Amino acid sequence: MNLYNYVWTQDGITAKDSLVYPFEERGLQFGDGIYEVIRIYQGNYDLLDAHIERLYRSAEAIRLQVPFNKEELITSLQNLAEKNAVHTDAKLYLQITRGSAPREHTFPDVPSNLYAYIEESPRPAAQLQQGVRTILTEDIRWDLCYIKSLNLLPNVLAKQTAKENGAVEAIFHKDGQVTEGSSSNVFIVKDNMLFTHPAAPNILHGCVRDRVLTLAAESALEVHETTFSTQQLLDADEVFITSTTSEIMPVIEVDGNRIRNGRPGMITRQLQLAYEQVSDIQQTAFI
Ligand code: PDD
Repeated sequence: MNLYNYVWTQDGITAKDSLVYPFEERGLQFGDGIYEVIRIYQGNYDLLDAHIERLYRSAEAIRLQVPFNKEELITSLQNLAEKNAVHTDAKLYLQITRGSAPREHTFPDVPSNLYAYIEESPRPAAQLQQGVRTILTEDIRWDLCYIKSLNLLPNVLAKQTAKENGAVEAIFHKDGQVTEGSSSNVFIVKDNMLFTHPAAPNILHGCVRDRVLTLAAESALEVHETTFSTQQLLDADEVFITSTTSEIMPVIEVDGNRIRNGRPGMITRQLQLAYEQVSDIQQTAFI
């Protein structure tokens, strides 16, 4: 996908080809940093404040200095979109690490490194319409997955296994309970009630997850933030996953088992439509 030409670093906006990453860098050597992925619809950021709030929560959790305050960060991201004249659907990737220093595990006394870039990213319209296949895989990650850290090896391995099995997402489970996806949160619908894992430290508190909970409350849907088992997942009336890039994505298969009749359900559809409205998405994926 097309990368926009200008990137933003702690030193300002620069052309992406002039960005040189240092040899000894904490993000590269230790995964010692945090990130966010933020949606852009037709040139406008979506859920920007929520992502920035989470970025600061992640930074605080790993005792990382963010070199800007929240307002400066938001203004700079807006400047970056303007400088690139972004007008399409896109996504912003923002990363902050503990800086460049000789490789010692303990914290160096150096400034953090930050960079942000924007990439074109069309909405996955066909998948939003038809739904996707998923697999189940054991959640072998650490206990602090609410931190959006650069350490994504278990997620990478799980997603690759999903791909090799003809699926687009791997759904993690621990002790028989579903936690979240490798890059998404997981919801089930049973008897007209919505269930999702509580916003506990062992999952990422997704910005789209939060929005879905708000939309569900507004539509008087009964919501339970409780854990559910892999068997409940397989027996669900509807299943969907949520993330910045996949929005509200219907799941039609888990480990080869069809959910319902293999078609996205009514409640999922209603939430998808409400999501398009609240995000001010101009072109519907459901015609
Ligand atoms: N991933 N859980 C995990 C492990 C994630 O990596 C993500 C997002 C989510 C959903 O969060 P949100 O609704 O705020 O996007 C849940 C991003 C998109 C990524 O790593 O590419």
